[in-house]
Amino acid sequence: MVKDIFLEKFGVAADGVWASPGRVNLIGEHTDYNGSFVFPGAIDKGMTAAIRLNGTDRVRAYAIDLDETTEFSVDDPQPPKEGWAKYIYGVCREMGKRGVKVGGFDTAFSGDVPLGAGMSSSAALESVYAFAINELFDGGVDKMELARVGQATEHNYVGVMCGIMDQFASVFGKRGNLIRLDTRSMEYEYFPFDPKGYKLVLLDTLVKHELASSAYNQRRQSCEAVVAAMAKRHPEVKFLRDADMAMLDEVRGEVSAEDAMRAEYVIGETQRVLDVCEALERGDYQTVGERMYQTHDGMSRLYEVSCEELDFLNDIARECGVTGSRVMGGGFGGCTINLVKDGLYDGFISTAKEKYKAKYGKEPKVYDVVISDGARRL
Ligand code: GLA
Repeated sequence: MVKDIFLEKFGVAADGVWASPGRVNLIGEHTDYNGSFVFPGAIDKGMTAAIRLNGTDRVRAYAIDLDETTEFSVDDPQPPKEGWAKYIYGVCREMGKRGVKVGGFDTAFSGDVPLGAGMSSSAALESVYAFAINELFDGGVDKMELARVGQATEHNYVGVMCGIMDQFASVFGKRGNLIRLDTRSMEYEYFPFDPKGYKLVLLDTLVKHELASSAYNQRRQSCEAVVAAMAKRHPEVKFLRDADMAMLDEVRGEVSAEDAMRAEYVIGETQRVLDVCEALERGDYQTVGERMYQTHDGMSRLYEVSCEELDFLNDIARECGVTGSRVMGGGFGGCTINLVKDGLYDGFISTAKEKYKAKYGKEPKVYDVVISDGARRL
């Protein structure tokens, strides 16, 4: 227990323990920095942090899973050198920018959301500290802004120019509900998600993605380049969300073929999220599943954020008659998310394990998805 480890490490009890989850996303990938829709939900895995105010200006942080400790001042102009500590430091700084008087604290944290698997371990880490610091220092920052604190931490201290989906889901998650977020208006709606007769399951390729490795940021730049070209003719286009395929055709001669492919994927994906929401209201899981496969194809061929292992698992899902399957999250590794009929579940999992092992020498990890609550004090 994080609480007990805190006591052992610092010799006093923590003031409190906070938790914040990772997330899944049913559909709407690489749409959140394009002003479009996402459809995530928080999961039953995340980060847990025990914290005690220490009355100084120093943060002493212990990463339980890595058995590493660091110390920094919230006023240090330079972030600490440990990768994980940059997240905590970044959150402190971003809360400070929003007028919160962040003082020193001792903290120990641990997580059970796999790292680099596309389930947003980093958003869970940011959100747990944003949420706790807000409570401990009477920040009065609203929940949406807490999500933005996490996103700004990625932008300013980690170098990933991510959208808002992961931090939003981690803060706003609600048990049994997916959330459709419009990232242009920031309006959101909870959708109870309990697909009778189906299971939602993640298969982890165990290929670790490295979002920061610039490929993610390049995708974003491609989208922005296409928007800039479109806006010359259509000044109302601020995001790819505002565009359609006809506008894309108009600018094909002015943007690179690669950038055009990226935009084609995003424009298609916007429509797919809307299709899925409508289908869910009708209980039409067949359509939900078809759109998931289409997303996978788009992410693999047009957006080029899949990898051989993800494509392999997607093919197995098709062969097994799984209703829907696709790469989830940023891509370049991590998990597929699969919508599977109860009756096919066991066969699918054993086939996927067997075939993946025969090809790559190890079995994919299997995670049943349990849609859970967002950031909270325990
Ligand atoms: C990562 C980012 C999100 C989002 C997804 C892709 O998880 O952090 O903002 O862009 O990739 O949908």
